Amino acid sequence: SPKSVLMPPDGGDLVDLIVPEKDRAWKHAEARGLPRINISRIDLEWVHVLSEGWASPLRGFMRQAEYLQALHFNTFPTKDGSIVNMSIPIVLPITDVQKELVEGSGAVALVAPDQNIVAILRNFEIFKHNKEERIARTWGSTAPGLPYVEEAITNSGNWLIGGDLEVLQRIKYNDGLDHYRLSPRELRAEFERRKADAVFAFQLRNPVHNGHALLMTDTRRRLLAMGHRNPVLLLHPLGGFTKADDVPLDWRMKQHDKVLQEGVLDPETTVLSIFPSPMYYAGPTEVQWHAKARMNAGADFYIVGRDPAGMGHPIEKRDLYDPDHGKMVLSMAPGLDRLNILPFRVAAYDRTKNEMAFFDPKRAEDFLFISGTKMRSFAKNGENPPQGFMCPGGWKVLVEYYQSLTSS
Ligand code: ADX
Repeated sequence: SPKSVLMPPDGGDLVDLIVPEKDRAWKHAEARGLPRINISRIDLEWVHVLSEGWASPLRGFMRQAEYLQALHFNTFPTKDGSIVNMSIPIVLPITDVQKELVEGSGAVALVAPDQNIVAILRNFEIFKHNKEERIARTWGSTAPGLPYVEEAITNSGNWLIGGDLEVLQRIKYNDGLDHYRLSPRELRAEFERRKADAVFAFQLRNPVHNGHALLMTDTRRRLLAMGHRNPVLLLHPLGGFTKADDVPLDWRMKQHDKVLQEGVLDPETTVLSIFPSPMYYAGPTEVQWHAKARMNAGADFYIVGRDPAGMGHPIEKRDLYDPDHGKMVLSMAPGLDRLNILPFRVAAYDRTKNEMAFFDPKRAEDFLFISGTKMRSFAKNGENPPQGFMCPGGWKVLVEYYQSLTSS
């Protein structure tokens, strides 16, 4: 078969930690005899991420050396001496009691919230969970109210356990959306099937408005102008943990479907799939992870706009991160030089044209910024956003969602 034109994965072969069918029964039997650790929904999402090679070449929850390299260098070295980007720690916290239970054993079984044993962690190492330092280095802040921190770090165990992961079966959520959860390997196959000669990825955790769409259609136009014949868009909503006031995944997927149905994006040249990672909301640090993971799925272009993976400061009236830093950091990030970063200016509603357009500071007064809070208040009050902000079907989905909140 002809050699793939897709972006090769980081650090050699794409990691695949899912136990082959033929070994499943005996590995399960082995797992049933091991000490057990109950893991959370977020931990399970990381098992999912690791199992399919999104974090290639990482082969399990980080041991101390990997953890320190991620924390201090945002990278780690590969076998051939080069480095790959790894900007966030992927770690598994355990409590003092769990530590005592598993110490001295060669392997442990990981038990999902539904009580199924999902994985074996071998040759593990247990080390101190230096929470404050981890939070400060990853988020650049220890302000109270950081979403992932509150959910998964502050009250988590005082220890981290890292090792080689073997996942007993493919992770499924049975929420009606599993068919959207293509692994990096499956995405690569899909891009090949479509004969893509360029793949451009768009990470998102919000509904698609016409400003987002502008970034994507403009990228396609640029890639065609560069001589690519069949650039394919990976529209890649994040599917793991998100904060309480973000729109939940199932509603976002309905909204994204409308965006494709109504032709805002072209279904012929777009692959809509779910990225299984949880969200950290760690801005410029996290956007590197978002980009690196898509490179492992075969993307060679990555779109980045205003304040990627950012949010409002939890207790002050300002953005937590400088909205320009994400794209600046991503363009310079170590280990991501193979990836073509496409930085974009902020898009806003241009009142002179009644459409979303790139913000022009020379006529700032013509532009309207429509935040999530603003959208919510439109939807709640049964008002429409200005025409041209979002396709009508997509907006209707949001109105239904926000009204389902007020009625409950
Ligand atoms: S993110 O957490 O996934 O980054 P979001 O879904 O809001 O959040 O954004 C998806 C992508 O669109 C990011 O690259 C972000 O920088 C970009 N983006 C979001 N809103 C705008 C905007 N108004 N103008 C330009 N880029 C934007």
